[in-house]
Amino acid sequence: MKLHSTRTQLWIFVIIQSVTCQTTVIPGFVGGQVVLPCVYKDPVPQKVFWRVDDVNPVFDIIDWKPSTASQISKYKDRVSSFPSEYSKGNFSLLLKDLRLDDAKLYECKIIDSNQPVVVQLRVSVKDEQKTTTPPPSGAAASSQRLSVFLLFAVSLLI
Ligand SMILES: *[C@@H]1O[C@H](CO)[C@@H](O)[C@H](O)[C@H]1NC(C)=O
Repeated sequence: MKLHSTRTQLWIFVIIQSVTCQTTVIPGFVGGQVVLPCVYKDPVPQKVFWRVDDVNPVFDIIDWKPSTASQISKYKDRVSSFPSEYSKGNFSLLLKDLRLDDAKLYECKIIDSNQPVVVQLRVSVKDEQKTTTPPPSGAAASSQRLSVFLLFAVSLLI
């Protein structure tokens, strides 16, 4: 019984480790836009599925054609890709009109590869949206916040 649970914990550790190795954090702002990077070219796939929360469809590329047929309504009219880049293996996604609840883990699933490219999107609120009258020290405060964020991003990479 005890041995069994230790083995389970080891498995969980291995799975988390293999996912976090590939994660890229993309910062964004409410109302702004971000490009979620996904490049894969050995070989260049025909099918790429963008998913959020593991299973929810955000965008599909099937036989190098973009498709929003299965897309969940939350992302309607807010995502696009770059078809002229497909042949270079670039299946990056443009997500615009960012909302706070867009901060999630996005996966670019290369069909025929068991190693999805995982993109973690982090959305933060701009200063102007929090205060109606920004204080004169606003610029200093926001650059301080940026450096804290960069420090955090770097610490994730190490
Ligand atoms: C993929 O295409 C997008 C849109 O043109 C571009 O911003 C990005 O730099 C490209 N990525 C690579 C690795 O070429």
